[in-house]
Amino acid sequence: MSSIKYKRILLKLSGESLMGDQEYGIDPNMLRHYASQIKDLVEDGIEVAIVIGGGNIYRGIQAANTGFDRVQGDYMGMLATTINGLALQSALEDDAYAVKTRMVTAIDMKKIAEPYIRRKAIRHLEKGRVVIFACGTGSPFFTTDSAAALRANEMEVDVILKGTRVDGIYTSDPLKDPSATKFDTLSFAKVISLGLGVMDMTAFTLCQENDIPIVVFDIGNPSNLSRIVRGESVGTLVEG
Ligand code: GTP
Repeated sequence: MSSIKYKRILLKLSGESLMGDQEYGIDPNMLRHYASQIKDLVEDGIEVAIVIGGGNIYRGIQAANTGFDRVQGDYMGMLATTINGLALQSALEDDAYAVKTRMVTAIDMKKIAEPYIRRKAIRHLEKGRVVIFACGTGSPFFTTDSAAALRANEMEVDVILKGTRVDGIYTSDPLKDPSATKFDTLSFAKVISLGLGVMDMTAFTLCQENDIPIVVFDIGNPSNLSRIVRGESVGTLVEG
C-alpha cells in the first residue's frame, strides 16, 4: 500500500464510454474492460466510488429530435444512468470479477437500489465495496460531472478520475486540431483563464473550492487507472 497515492477515488465514466464502437447502448466488452480494471484497484485496497453518465441511452433519444422539455429530458437522462449503473454492477459482480458493490440512487427507487445516504455510502467504501452512484444529483439542470463533483466532496475522496477518449487536456481538441498540445499538469486557475473545457463550471468550481484534484485520462488504456493511483504521471492532473 505504500506506493498508493490515492486511497479513495471517484471514477467518472460517461455513458458514451460504455458504447464501444456502437452508436448507442451498452457494449458488454466495455463493461468487462472496466470491471477488470476496477477489480485490480479493489485488490490493491483502493476505495472506489463511481459516477456514471447516461449519454449512451439518452442522447440517442435526443438525437431523434423529438423535442422533449429540458426537465423531462434531464429526468430521462437520470433514468439512463440507472440502467448503466445496473449494467456495471452486474458486470462487476459477475463470477469473473466478483467485486462487491452497492448501487445507490439519488432518486429513490428502492426496489432497484439503495437510496443515497451519505454516511451509509461512506461505510460501504470503508468496507471495500465499490459504490455506484446513479441518477446524477437527483435534480434537473445538473450534469453527471456535477454529480461526480458533489459525491466526490461528500465521500471525501482523494481525487476525481475523469475517463475520456483522449489522454488528457489539450490546448484545443486534439481530434480536430493536429497542432494541439497536451498539458501534464494545470492549476484550477489556469484552466479557467485558458477557458479549457474540463468539466462544466458548476462541477469544476465545486472541486476548486474544496481542492479536490481531477485527473483527465484515456480510459481506453487498461493500465492507466492502476498507474494513476500510484501517482504516475498519466493524462492531465488539475490541482490547486
Ligand atoms: P452493512 O450494513 O454494512 O452490512 O451493509 P449491507 O449493504 O450489506 O447491509 P444491508 O442489509 O443494508 O444490505 C443488504 C443488501 O440489500 C445489499 O445488497 C444492499 O445493496 C441491499 N439494499 C439495502 N437497502 C436497500 C434498498 O433500499 N433497496 C434495495 N433495492 N436494496 C437495498
